[in-house]
Amino acid sequence: MTKNIVWHDQSVSKLERSEHKNQKPCVLWFTGLSGSGKSTVANALEHELAKRGQHTFLLDGDNVRHGLNKDLGFSDDDRVENIRRIGEVSKLFVDAGLIAVTAFISPFRSDRQLVRDLLAETEFVEIHMNTPLATCESRDPKGLYKKARAGEIKNFTGIDSDYEAPLKAEITLDSSEQSVEECVEQIISFLTSQEILVNTFAAKA
Ligand code: ADX
Repeated sequence: MTKNIVWHDQSVSKLERSEHKNQKPCVLWFTGLSGSGKSTVANALEHELAKRGQHTFLLDGDNVRHGLNKDLGFSDDDRVENIRRIGEVSKLFVDAGLIAVTAFISPFRSDRQLVRDLLAETEFVEIHMNTPLATCESRDPKGLYKKARAGEIKNFTGIDSDYEAPLKAEITLDSSEQSVEECVEQIISFLTSQEILVNTFAAKA
């Protein structure tokens, strides 16, 4: 498929772009069930990073499926393609020097591994929202679990479609036991300990 297409090297490097931004670009990849708190924590995290002067971009499942991936549904094949595209887009953001924050169920281990493999070792941080299914289902903010249980939605993750939990995520959180602030704090302290956050201005109120 890449026949007759030649890769052009760019004259401005990733390093130069990230130096302009004074930050280490990376992907903060949230994975977990619908209702596990991915979007909520990802939003709060992006807010905190912005306050610290970091340049970020948030990609969220529900939003991306309105545009770039509006041709995709929830069959296994479509989810694989959904994550493949998001992985490529995230890599572009990293090349642009940004901290990309992504919030997708991304239920399959092999797809998350493919995204990890697109990036350098320290550039992919997997954040598992390990909130129990029972809690996600009791929250049911969009009423989708109810519909899935009633058989009105097919292939719903956690009900009749698999979720393969990470075997060794960099960060594991549980929003049934931790507040949003505690989750953000745990992520920030990991990023600081790994020296991913190098430009740690004290957060402005
Ligand atoms: S993924 O599995 O391909 O990574 P993605 O994160 O983009 O999924 O989209 C998940 C969102 O789509 C859920 O938060 C939910 O609002 C909605 N949704 C609609 N149908 C389904 C389904 N069958 N399974 C899971 N989520 C669904």
